[in-house]
Amino acid sequence: MPCISSEELDGLVREAKKVTKHGKVADYIPALQKGNRDDLSVAIYHADGTCLSAGDIEQKITLQSISKVLSLALALMDCGEECVFNKVGYEPTGDPFNSIIKLETNHSRKPLNPMINAGALAVTHLIKGVNVEERLERLISFIRDLAGHNVITYSLEVAQSEFETAFLNRSLCYYMKQDGIIDEDVEDLLDLYTKQCAIEMDCLDLARIGLVFAMNGFDPVREKQIIPVEVARLCKTFMVTCGMYNASGEFAIRVGIPAKSGVSGGIMGAVRNRFGIGIFGPALDEKGNSIGGIEFLEMLSKRYELSIF
Ligand code: DON
Repeated sequence: MPCISSEELDGLVREAKKVTKHGKVADYIPALQKGNRDDLSVAIYHADGTCLSAGDIEQKITLQSISKVLSLALALMDCGEECVFNKVGYEPTGDPFNSIIKLETNHSRKPLNPMINAGALAVTHLIKGVNVEERLERLISFIRDLAGHNVITYSLEVAQSEFETAFLNRSLCYYMKQDGIIDEDVEDLLDLYTKQCAIEMDCLDLARIGLVFAMNGFDPVREKQIIPVEVARLCKTFMVTCGMYNASGEFAIRVGIPAKSGVSGGIMGAVRNRFGIGIFGPALDEKGNSIGGIEFLEMLSKRYELSIF
């Protein structure tokens, strides 16, 4: 039962687009600079299999940090909770997503949570496989399963662009290697992580994956439990507490929908038992979240009373 008509969705996206001029496309990964600041597209995937969309939804986006939720789900399924939380903590941060400071000052030396870069690198380290190729292939197959089709892959151009410039992420890895959080070759881990972040899909795929989380790991379209309920619950909790980085508190108050953003301008949202949301809007606010995407979600949540709080 769609809660919103196609016309209403178009109207909200048109309205939200007005703020994109105040945002900035990410440029610290050179290949992302190609994003168009004024784009904003949205897809909503309902539990009954119906979809609504507005904007250029065929355009593909790289997942960037949205992939952190998916790698966390796979690592939890691969190794279990105890093993994962031996390497990474549960707590939100007030620091930017790529900050290194807590690795030195935090008593336990573990990265604070799996949604910041350090935590995500520690989680990707746990994905099982004999080499980088097999681990990447396992992650991509899992994501294909979540999206319900087989054509998802990664952008070599974006992965290479990040790999060549990921000096800060390398530093995070070396810090964690020193402290025994990771024990593999840093270049291998970065190879896997940058390819993971460069996995591409369109807004509809993103909304479909959001729907699986909204349904506690169950894909209602193929009637299949893809992620164990407890793993889905854990991932969604991190989406609420850490999904929008150091803007997660304000986002919880203004929007109140479990969501995860990425610097390419993507946002994946999950409205419990109802629908998944996929957004692409490359103009970012100062904290690295899609400015048009957040504006859209705030209007949507208020109008249709979607906050979980
Ligand atoms: O590791 C990085 O910096 C990027 N591949 C992903 C960061 C990201 O998406 C943060 N999002 N807001």
